[in-house]
Amino acid sequence: TVVEGCAAAPIGPSYREPDEKPQATVSGKIKFDTVHVLPQTPQLIALLTIIRDQNTQRGDFIFYSNRIIRLLVEEGLNHLPVKEHEVTTPLGRTYAGVRFEGKICGVSIMRAGESMEQGLRDCCRSVRIGKILIQRDEETAQPKLFYHKLPNDIAERWVLLLDPMNATGGSASMAVEVLKSKGVAEERILFLNLIASPEGLEHFASKFPKLRVITAFIDEGLDDKNYIVPGLGDFGDRHFGTL
Ligand code: URA
Repeated sequence: TVVEGCAAAPIGPSYREPDEKPQATVSGKIKFDTVHVLPQTPQLIALLTIIRDQNTQRGDFIFYSNRIIRLLVEEGLNHLPVKEHEVTTPLGRTYAGVRFEGKICGVSIMRAGESMEQGLRDCCRSVRIGKILIQRDEETAQPKLFYHKLPNDIAERWVLLLDPMNATGGSASMAVEVLKSKGVAEERILFLNLIASPEGLEHFASKFPKLRVITAFIDEGLDDKNYIVPGLGDFGDRHFGTL
């Protein structure tokens, strides 16, 4: 298998003694170099602990999942190209830095992906955001494309594709096909999610070998209804209050 499962690990900075660090379950590992898992820091694990808790109320669910979304967006942006850029500081000294290069846009997979739009806007002012609606066809049980609206020049942009839960990867695969049909190169797509299943990631990485996935956590797997376990339930229902 290409996945090493989740395991308990001591959480905390390396300088702290092992017996001073609490144990917590950390993300599984996957052997695809296109899949990037956020560092399993005490803050990230604490945030995930809150949003996984069935007793967490909606206001806290939104607040704490937004903090994770912010980390995902910042990490996603690290994958975009930059070029050298020198500035002069108020002390008259030069600083050899970099600046962003290239245009971006977000694309949310409705409905749950829309919950990640604000986190993207918080980092990228006035970013363009397209939408794709894919739902399961009741007759065939296959994902079906119902709606999409994307920036006209999307083929020239880097795309941050947003969906908080990467379960089977079925809807996301269809969304990627839509983006590719509009001329977006696979290597310019960054798929951001909070929790991914090993099944969804393997499916995705083998189907789209150049597309990068940024996730906060690789969970154990899927149950018989394709919910991620241990997971956090239905992200869209918890975020939008439609339980
Ligand atoms: N979508 C969710 O919201 N939760 C899951 O566990 C799987 C898909």
